[in-house]
Amino acid sequence: MIKVLVTGGAGFIGSNLVNELIKKGYEVTVVDDLSMGSISNLTECINKIKFYKKDVCDEKFMHYVLNKNYDYIYHLAAISSVVASVKRPYKTHKVNNESVVKILEYLRVKELHPKKFLYTSSAAVYGNYPELPKKEDGRVEPLTPYAVDKYASERMTLVYGDLYNMSVVAVRFFNVFGPLQNPDSQYSGVLSIITKCLLEDSEFTLYGNGRQTRDFIYVKDIIKALIFIAEHDKSKGVYNIGYGKKTSLLEIIQVYENITGKKLKINFEKSRPGDVYDSFADISRLLQLGFTVDYKNGLKKGLEKYWRYSYASKKKK
Ligand code: UD1
Repeated sequence: MIKVLVTGGAGFIGSNLVNELIKKGYEVTVVDDLSMGSISNLTECINKIKFYKKDVCDEKFMHYVLNKNYDYIYHLAAISSVVASVKRPYKTHKVNNESVVKILEYLRVKELHPKKFLYTSSAAVYGNYPELPKKEDGRVEPLTPYAVDKYASERMTLVYGDLYNMSVVAVRFFNVFGPLQNPDSQYSGVLSIITKCLLEDSEFTLYGNGRQTRDFIYVKDIIKALIFIAEHDKSKGVYNIGYGKKTSLLEIIQVYENITGKKLKINFEKSRPGDVYDSFADISRLLQLGFTVDYKNGLKKGLEKYWRYSYASKKKK
């Protein structure tokens, strides 16, 4: 049976990944300290996985768990908050960078050879540099401890791959939305906040004029891409994961209003300092590897599914 380790497997993207891996019949081990994620994200599959409520910085424990030899390791555990990294740079650095180096080092020293070690980075590494679309080999401008750590960790992952003949890969996520994303902070993904406002008929604060663009991608498509990249024997280096298209906030709100049959109440405010105006991914590396995306349907169908899921979850409460 294929054995997989997912760190951060109780988080938004991690839990969606774990659910999919279980559907594929894999044996899945999850390490998550539940500081950002929630065990309720794993309700559907909790009896089918090995779950450890542990911090990835706990070296002794990580050695124990890594000794179990996996076919694939997905390292998603992170303090995935830019704001937290600005407030507590060293604390977040330990999780977002040191844990990665320590895992890679243990794999090297013990000569453990997963078929792939996949590190999850972020479009945050591109910062405000205006090149569009964002290319993996284009300029980066990490502007926060979070972005610096993501960049450093993906580079270290690739360097371990090159120098020590380890099979590794890194991905950069663009704007992911979908079930299990927590809408309860002002720094949550904008679509989770909009969904909550539509469900509760509450007012949405739009920072800026709404013409800023993003490469929004439905979480299920992110998961498909993650598994595809990890399991492809020729994947190498860094891959952007998005649909490769930009959509403005006003456009996506309109599509969402049509789907839900609701009108979003919008309160316009000044744009947030440091907010990126335009962002979308060049995904040619991913396409060259053989992955296919159907962005038009992807976005609309993703929103439809997300809405159905959110509506049903609200009714259950
Ligand atoms: C995302 C990441 C961020 C990362 C950046 C790198 C998330 C939640 N954030 O930020 O960690 O540094 O990519 O490219 O994935 N907005 C509103 N009202 C709200 C919330 C957001 O108008 O209540 C606006 C924002 O100002 C922004 C847009 O919506 O213009 C998208 O915001 P958000 O979902 O936070 O994503 P990014 O800004 O792209």
